[in-house]
Amino acid sequence: TETGSLSIIVLGASGDLAKKKTFPALFNLFHQGFLNPDEVHIFGYARSKITDEELRDKIRGYLVDEKNASKKTEALSKFLKLIKYVSGPYDSEEGFKRLDKAISEHEISKKTAEGSSRRLFYLALPPSVYPPVSKMIKAWCTNKSDLGGWTRIVVEKPFGKDLESAEQLSSQIGALFEEPQIYRIDHYLGKELVQNMLVLRFANRLFLPLWNRDNIANVQIVFREDFGTEGRGGYFDEYGIIRDIIQNHLLQVLCLVAMEKPISLKPEHIRDEKVKVLQSVIPIKDEEVVLGQYEGYRDDPTVPNDSNTPTFATTILRINNERWEGVPFILKAGKAMSSKKADIRIQFKDVPGDIFKCQNQGRNEFVIRLQPSEAMYMKLTVKQPGLEMQTVQSELDLSYKQRYQDVSIPEAYERLILDTIRGDQQHFVRRDELKAAWEIFTPLLHRIDKGEVKSVPYKQGSRGPAEADQLLKKAGYMQTHGYIWIPPTL
Ligand code: BG6
Repeated sequence: TETGSLSIIVLGASGDLAKKKTFPALFNLFHQGFLNPDEVHIFGYARSKITDEELRDKIRGYLVDEKNASKKTEALSKFLKLIKYVSGPYDSEEGFKRLDKAISEHEISKKTAEGSSRRLFYLALPPSVYPPVSKMIKAWCTNKSDLGGWTRIVVEKPFGKDLESAEQLSSQIGALFEEPQIYRIDHYLGKELVQNMLVLRFANRLFLPLWNRDNIANVQIVFREDFGTEGRGGYFDEYGIIRDIIQNHLLQVLCLVAMEKPISLKPEHIRDEKVKVLQSVIPIKDEEVVLGQYEGYRDDPTVPNDSNTPTFATTILRINNERWEGVPFILKAGKAMSSKKADIRIQFKDVPGDIFKCQNQGRNEFVIRLQPSEAMYMKLTVKQPGLEMQTVQSELDLSYKQRYQDVSIPEAYERLILDTIRGDQQHFVRRDELKAAWEIFTPLLHRIDKGEVKSVPYKQGSRGPAEADQLLKKAGYMQTHGYIWIPPTL
């Protein structure tokens, strides 16, 4: 492990992302001993003219919840002391020179520094300011020590709005920093069960021979939220559910479900395979898309009255390779739905030559529940216990809360930020991956933006438009009737 001073600079320090995700993740890392107080210093940078203390007050409430507040009081005050605030505009030399000065002073003051310096810039900012901010960082704030260290930048989606704007952004940032310095976060890659995908697929003999078009009928990757765009209407209306969830989070999950086995676990080997899958996706057909917009979405004053922006979408992707030809990958995401959950559903084909006549009861389905209540369960047909020979749907269930009672599952951001410090890019999106992802959705997005593909209304708190269920059926998904999986309560 590296030593020496570590400066973490959160740009956009008083924004929502910083308050809700970045600082809490940093605090949790600190609390668990991953950030050494002898080495680390945290800087907040933003436009508003506030003091160190005012920034600390703004974020304090987000760092601990009431349940564990008392256990963490000591760590909390130590952590807050590590935070300094520098104010300045996002495009002026003067502000960034001051920031550099503050970082350098800290580097010198650290006994362990010995000249080396690690500088991590976290851009919790709207993408419109990425180019000026990256320029300023490059010009004034990069690590200048010849004794080692590095400068890295962390960026968040949205990375552009379509292929062209994304590529433009990539070249602007790419002209300033090398790819190994750039960490594009997709926080779904930090979720426990997403990180488990490779292990599950490639370390289990059970799955290897089944994971293909001969056995799998369809794959669904589903995201639902039971609330609407709540106060983010302005942002959301420009992007819509495909850019907000599907093109990034669900597509990243698809890569891990569908990719071939990488040569090794080296980040580049894994990312090479992800790119190949994305490049094998064939253009999306209009008849394999259903868009929805929940009723009441346009009541938000920041949303135009004639908005066609989808808050729900089901799209079917088809991968043209030897493993997957003919298998629909159904990506579905929606806001203001009946429940809040995200899961991956692998549905197997019917048993050939069935002698139990039980097929209308349901197929084998392997479900990976990303959230809430992390779990994996395999729906099986078993003999109904009792005297009669009847079949029934049941499951093999690995529910994390029950199986791993003493383990607390880290937040996605905690893991990912730790990776940026350690220099591991496996769970970050590479430039060519991003490009391939945009290539898949850009034609459809342009047609939606022009109003050529329309969103149909659906009721808040519903399953989304009925057309989406019809599309699923047409794609061959068979819903199991009379069976529900009940997450164990503890
Ligand atoms: C964000 C989206 O990337 O992911 C939000 O912009 C969404 O719209 C959020 O609510 C969901 O994240 P999670 O981790 O709660 O599933």
